[in-house]
Amino acid sequence: MTGVPGTDGPVPWWREAVCYEIHPRAFADGNGDGTGDLPGATARLDHLAELGVDAVWITPFYPSPLADGGYDIADHTGVAADLGTPADFDALVERAHALGIKVLVDVVPNHTSDQHPWFRAALAAAPGSPARQRYLFRDGRGEKGELPPNDWQSAFGGPAWTRVEEADGLPGQWYLHLHAPEQPDLNWRHPQVTAEFERVLKHWLDHGVDGFRVDVAHTLFKADDLPDAGPGQHQDVHRNHLMPYYDQEELHPLFRNWRTLLNHHPAPAGAVAPHERVMVAEAGIFDRERLARYVAADEMQQVFNFAFLECPWDGAALRDVVEESVRAMRAVGAPVTWVLSSHDAVRPVTRYGGGRAGERRARAAALLMLALPGAAYVYQGEELGLPQADIPDDRIRDPLWERSERRHRGRDGCRVPLPWSGTAPPYGFGAAAPEDCWLPQPADWAELTVTAQQDDEDSMLTLYRAALRLRRDHPAADTVLRVQGPADGSWFAFDRSARLRCLVNFSARPVPLDDGARVLLSSAPLDGRTVPQDTGVWMIHEEYPR
Ligand code: NOJ
Repeated sequence: MTGVPGTDGPVPWWREAVCYEIHPRAFADGNGDGTGDLPGATARLDHLAELGVDAVWITPFYPSPLADGGYDIADHTGVAADLGTPADFDALVERAHALGIKVLVDVVPNHTSDQHPWFRAALAAAPGSPARQRYLFRDGRGEKGELPPNDWQSAFGGPAWTRVEEADGLPGQWYLHLHAPEQPDLNWRHPQVTAEFERVLKHWLDHGVDGFRVDVAHTLFKADDLPDAGPGQHQDVHRNHLMPYYDQEELHPLFRNWRTLLNHHPAPAGAVAPHERVMVAEAGIFDRERLARYVAADEMQQVFNFAFLECPWDGAALRDVVEESVRAMRAVGAPVTWVLSSHDAVRPVTRYGGGRAGERRARAAALLMLALPGAAYVYQGEELGLPQADIPDDRIRDPLWERSERRHRGRDGCRVPLPWSGTAPPYGFGAAAPEDCWLPQPADWAELTVTAQQDDEDSMLTLYRAALRLRRDHPAADTVLRVQGPADGSWFAFDRSARLRCLVNFSARPVPLDDGARVLLSSAPLDGRTVPQDTGVWMIHEEYPR
């Protein structure tokens, strides 16, 4: 076994893990009401075992009025009634562990739902009262307090402040919400907030989880006095860490405390040992050195590499992201956590051009990602090559749609129920009629179901299964990643290990395979001994180690 940089210990499971993201309402419907649920997910865990993943991350399944797909939480330790019961969650964890799959859940510490008892109490209480201090209530600017306290913008569009009506029926204070108005931001300088989230972490650890995905981990603290952010908020990603609501210093002592909690809180049977628990940060910070601070040895273990996800299909740009990400993370001894898709992003097949071209590139991108050293997250349906679906106006659920005055259709197109089997909606998702399903499925997905793909050797599912198996057989070497290829980025290659080499060709000019190399897997048929355009290939040399 190779060591961890800077230590002699064995490689922790999460450094090279493949974790599968389950968005439960769209994964599998167990009770036939049209909404995916926890028993439905449990019954489909076999699919993930066959795929060969190491872990699952389940997006919020907590009680929620669903103003933002469940990221508006009314009870952080409950289970939403439409998804099941606490016992159903325990059953899911037990089944996953029996299959050798670890379980991560979301912790959403930046905000609560406006239906959370704390926020209801805050609204019922007077300005300046203790109940308001757990959130960020402020008086407005302007003569009569009619202007928001500062210029911050919500990530979903519009001001990040909403004015409340006070007990006298008159407009009063404003509260901060970096997302939807139904998601008031908590005041992380309040000791009750800190204590509450320690309780939340312990609750889920006691129920056997192996780690947490931390939602918008970079926004919990806001700069003192809430100064204006100035123009260009949410647009200029290169200076986003300078926003007064992003990336504040106080985050790091907090995450160190959480790490200590995870390392010491006892683990129930079936869960990983306390020091093997993982925290993965969702932090939209694009400065790589700043991002690397979240995965210092005594904080989190992983942080999603969104630069990889957001990079267009361009060899030079992708090579730069790969090299720079590995370099920045290596400096703090952390792996890169690669991600090609999520419940927030346009599906890769569509993002890379759609149709046959998009599909071909998404296949090559999968082989690129899965050969890179580090961890990878696979979002449900990525392994089926699903494209982004069109959602009719009257079925859109994402708050982005209304908040952007119907300019941005939002993220529902990647949150459509998975097609499992059959030739027409609901494609085995559950027993409900298609029109009663969580979001409508396209009529032309018959060839994309798990059943249709599983015995087809050219399918995306077969490619993912093969890549995950080979990746396990060929662990990444703990060496500096050396990327080779021409400066124009028309193709590049790198060694995953002494045996396995990955090459991706982005250009119309065919690239010859290495002399003497044997092909293990390719994302498209090769042309004799050359790699055609938009193709990834994994090869080994017969006389290894080279
Ligand atoms: C990130 C989540 O992935 C996204 O779906 C959500 O809208 C925001 N955080 C707010 O919680």
